[in-house]
Amino acid sequence: MSGQFEKIKQCFDYCRKITEFRPRIGLILGSGLGNYAKHMRVECEIPYGEIPGFPLSTVEGHDGRFLFGYIGTVPAVVMKGRVHYYEGYSMEDVVLPVRLMRLLGIEILFLTNASGGINPEFQAGDFMMITDQISSFVPSPLRGENIKEFGVRFPDMTHIYDPELQQIIRETSKDEKITIKEGVYLQTAGPNFESPAEVRMFACLGADAVGMSTACEAIAARHAGIRVCGISCISNMASGISKVELSHKEVQETADLKATDFERLVTGIIARM
Ligand code: HPA
Repeated sequence: MSGQFEKIKQCFDYCRKITEFRPRIGLILGSGLGNYAKHMRVECEIPYGEIPGFPLSTVEGHDGRFLFGYIGTVPAVVMKGRVHYYEGYSMEDVVLPVRLMRLLGIEILFLTNASGGINPEFQAGDFMMITDQISSFVPSPLRGENIKEFGVRFPDMTHIYDPELQQIIRETSKDEKITIKEGVYLQTAGPNFESPAEVRMFACLGADAVGMSTACEAIAARHAGIRVCGISCISNMASGISKVELSHKEVQETADLKATDFERLVTGIIARM
């Protein structure tokens, strides 16, 4: 057994002592979705800080926790807060929560985030369904000894974002009358925003939006046989496209403004899963 698997198993054993709840869906909340709990019937909460070996965010303070409960009738585990690679954790630790949720029972992972828009047809405040990703600028979370308890050494990444789940997202967006764009998400290491030259390069490479999370989590999830979907809130246009300098405050403000629509969309999608 790999050392990392033992660590994840230890987290799992702790969670199982607290709750027998078996989620079918895992939802990772990005910026602006922090208050999602009001849309679910929470059965149990586990603060990350209580779980032995669990990576703790240096950004969001003590707020990070798992919420177990029902979204509509769907049993789910919601991650309020996530760790980012830029905080200094290894990629293996950044994706530990995804693997832990796998052991807890999830079959579907729903990723959300805030990102910078690169596609000139986008504007701040848009939602983008992620159809594919570019993770070539960050190390793979699968680097190192393969954890065979989760998956194979060389996993296929042809359909990282599940085509059927994408269709559910399209239908929900139509029914809820919330427009959703589509595109390719590119992950950088962060924590600095990109330079305008980098954004031009990312555009040439086929990226529609850029952010500092998500792609690594999607890879770990696919490795473990989890079906994945994702939606990004375009909180700002990327550097050089935006007329103003970028700040975390702008990211947070736009995400907060769009929170109500984002919550409605996410809830509608999960109800159809
Ligand atoms: N770049 C990278 N990450 C981000 C951005 C951005 O412009 N906006 C929100 N997260």
